[in-house]
Amino acid sequence: MAEFVKVAKTSDILPGEIKPFDADGETIAICHINGKYYAIKDECSHMEYPLSDGSLEGEIITCSWHGAKFNVRTGDVLSMPAVVPIETYQLRIEGENIYVLIRD
Ligand code: FES
Repeated sequence: MAEFVKVAKTSDILPGEIKPFDADGETIAICHINGKYYAIKDECSHMEYPLSDGSLEGEIITCSWHGAKFNVRTGDVLSMPAVVPIETYQLRIEGENIYVLIRD
């Protein structure tokens, strides 16, 4: 079963920022890009390093360990050494609360 879990408030993440949050035992990174929010698993698909440590430019996150790049909206890999997409999560905003859809 899947359910939406509250993970953060919109004010917790400044524009251009990426931050990690716990959601039902999973670490989710929320990105704030031009007024829109995106949720990804906080784990690089290369060697599981936290992507929230990386740098965000527009929709592109660069892993700070070996420099792999991903699109945080689609999860697509844009640059080696990663070859597997990252997990993205459906996100919903109600008022100032951010909810993320967590699958079992
Ligand atoms: S762990 Fe992210 S590029 Fe290697």
